[in-house]
Amino acid sequence: MEERLQKILSKAGISSRRAAESLITEGRVTVNEEIVTLLGSKADIEKDKIAVDGKPVIFPKRKIYLLLNKPAGYMTTLSDPDGRPIVTDLLKNIPERVFPVGRLDFNTEGLLLLTNDGEWGNRLAHPSNEIEKEYYVKVRGLVTKENITTLTNGVKLDDGWTAPAKVVVNAVLAKSTWISITIHEGRYRQVRRMCEAVGLPVVKLSRIKYGNITIEGMKPGEYRFLTVAEAASLIDSGRNVYKNKR
Ligand code: URA
Repeated sequence: MEERLQKILSKAGISSRRAAESLITEGRVTVNEEIVTLLGSKADIEKDKIAVDGKPVIFPKRKIYLLLNKPAGYMTTLSDPDGRPIVTDLLKNIPERVFPVGRLDFNTEGLLLLTNDGEWGNRLAHPSNEIEKEYYVKVRGLVTKENITTLTNGVKLDDGWTAPAKVVVNAVLAKSTWISITIHEGRYRQVRRMCEAVGLPVVKLSRIKYGNITIEGMKPGEYRFLTVAEAASLIDSGRNVYKNKR
């Protein structure tokens, strides 16, 4: 995104906007190695090489943390060779290159975090962190007490036993049941596979909570910025081997 040079210089903490104007008119500012003296000239901090007195201007990268209510029918990737919609298609006016933290299946809805802060993303996604995620699941058929006990204690999947989960029946309908499942692992299609392993095909799946953050009140496709405090509290909501390192 192009911005006026004096704005860029003040954002980078080089000087006030007024003082930046003097730097420009005095011929001390270069863009891609060319001196720029015209006030109002624009540059793009992502693409252009800006320097003052020959020293490159390092722009502190804004770290952003986004909470998206992912609709079904979107891939949690940054590109899809088959041309299906991807989650970043839903983001408007976010010039930063953000990536998803973990993934939700194409047909899973709900809470997805995106960021450009690689360290934060890695901490959250690290299995040792054991951050709880809560899913609302609509399964076909009736859920028995045995189903609940098995899902709660652990299910044998082809990649091993699942860790204990919290399972609650929310609503019993004529041909299906809504349950909520809280897990701290994040294996591939874990909730679907857990339910299928006890004979309960998943009809609908939505992640509604991640650590202490919920998507309550957000429509599908809606997103918002997390505050820095919320982003930090998410790290703290895990068991977290990193806690003492901060
Ligand atoms: N478990 C699943 O089966 N799918 C998801 O998208 C997330 C958790």
